Amino acid sequence: MKIIRAKDYKDMSRKAANIISAQVIMKPYAVLGLATGSSPVGTYAQLIDWYNKGDIDFSEVTTINLDEYRGLPREHDQSYWYFMHKNFFDSVNVQPDRIFVPDGSNPDAAEACREYDAIIQRAGGIDLQLLGIGHDGHIGFNEPGAAFELGTHCVDLTKETIEANKRFFNNDETLVPRQAYTMGIKTIMQARKVLMVASGADKAQIIKKAFFGPVTPEVPASILQMHPDFILVGDQDALSLI
Ligand code: GLP
Repeated sequence: MKIIRAKDYKDMSRKAANIISAQVIMKPYAVLGLATGSSPVGTYAQLIDWYNKGDIDFSEVTTINLDEYRGLPREHDQSYWYFMHKNFFDSVNVQPDRIFVPDGSNPDAAEACREYDAIIQRAGGIDLQLLGIGHDGHIGFNEPGAAFELGTHCVDLTKETIEANKRFFNNDETLVPRQAYTMGIKTIMQARKVLMVASGADKAQIIKKAFFGPVTPEVPASILQMHPDFILVGDQDALSLI
């Protein structure tokens, strides 16, 4: 485990974007596992900036997103498909047929998850997986108690996650979907490199627990302690307790 201290959110985003761009320069046809949430938005903005300056080219890259709400159509402005297009894909040259997000509009969970695992396998696995972390230690939508050995699967969101995400749904928790399709911990652990971004004092407690506490399914991110190439880039506030 490597921990990189950044001054603030902007510095964290720059450092994370540097690691991603190094990956793409070293392997132009890299498979990037991407994440939503407020933590990686600045990383995407930095990559867009370098793309506009001609410093990075995504034309051969494949992207495979971590998760998607079950039941939201792609066009819904809170779907992760929409989020990724707005914050990244619409501004860079990732080829549309190399963009993958779990199909939240497929009501058949088993089929949607099986197809997603097949996509990951066909792509040859993930070279670099970008992650944020939930306040309860979830990664993707692998909530506390999630089995470490799962591939893509359907999950029930916890009360805490629904509460944390209601700000995106007019602050009305009845509008937040109750389930999601997510890559499993096994999928994430099979990525050849894992890069987590964490920012803000509200993440300090969970960062300490996940990376300096026991490895346990109760804190899903804690398994990353065992990953052979895990990098945490955090700002001062998020790393203040370690
Ligand atoms: C959601 C996403 C996670 C993300 C988490 C934290 O639940 N499914 O992938 O890491 O939120 O989000 P934020 O970065 O906004 O704190």
